[in-house]
Amino acid sequence: MLKAMRVVILGSGRGSNAEALLRAQAEGRLGRARVVQIFTDVPGAGILAHGARFGVPATFLDPAPFKTKLEGEGEGRYIAAIAACQPDLVVLAGFMRVLKPGFIQAFAGRIINLHPSLLPSFPGLDAIGQAWRRGVKITGCTVHHVTPEVDGGPIIDQAAVRIEPSDTLEALAAKVHAAEHALLPAVVARLSAG
Ligand code: GAR
Repeated sequence: MLKAMRVVILGSGRGSNAEALLRAQAEGRLGRARVVQIFTDVPGAGILAHGARFGVPATFLDPAPFKTKLEGEGEGRYIAAIAACQPDLVVLAGFMRVLKPGFIQAFAGRIINLHPSLLPSFPGLDAIGQAWRRGVKITGCTVHHVTPEVDGGPIIDQAAVRIEPSDTLEALAAKVHAAEHALLPAVVARLSAG
């Protein structure tokens, strides 16, 4: 039997994309990928419950001392804990911290990020709101390799979402999230095929 691709998920929020990955795995749609661990930098984040539901360890890992970036002691804790999982792939699924070169080098070529816009349009925070306010007619989501340039690494795949004139921001967000829930598991399954 072929070796599994060990996946560690990092997330800060409700974890709907972690849930999509875990559901795909449970339904045999994740190829050779196996989610082995979820870490969150937010105590009590919704993502923790998804791990419990699918039998995957999900743990809060202290990111201190910084608020918006992972550097210093927190970075060291994350590198050590993730390395102990022997990951083939680290998936950033709504991990809302800037990663520094030390972390990126520790898992070089093995970190991917999900972003809720068609990069290079609308990098950074509130990408769905940025697209909605700008009045673009098509937005979507992107999975890309992580490099030290925030939201700037090589693009692996994207899915497009049309913005209808009647779309509220909430309606658009729901459409983008639905596109993400299809795109991310498909990319991970494809990566696991080599
Ligand atoms: C997703 O929309 C993801 O694209 C976004 O956070 C959300 C997490 O949702 N990530 C970023 O904005 C990163 N810049 P989830 O917790 O329900 O998976």
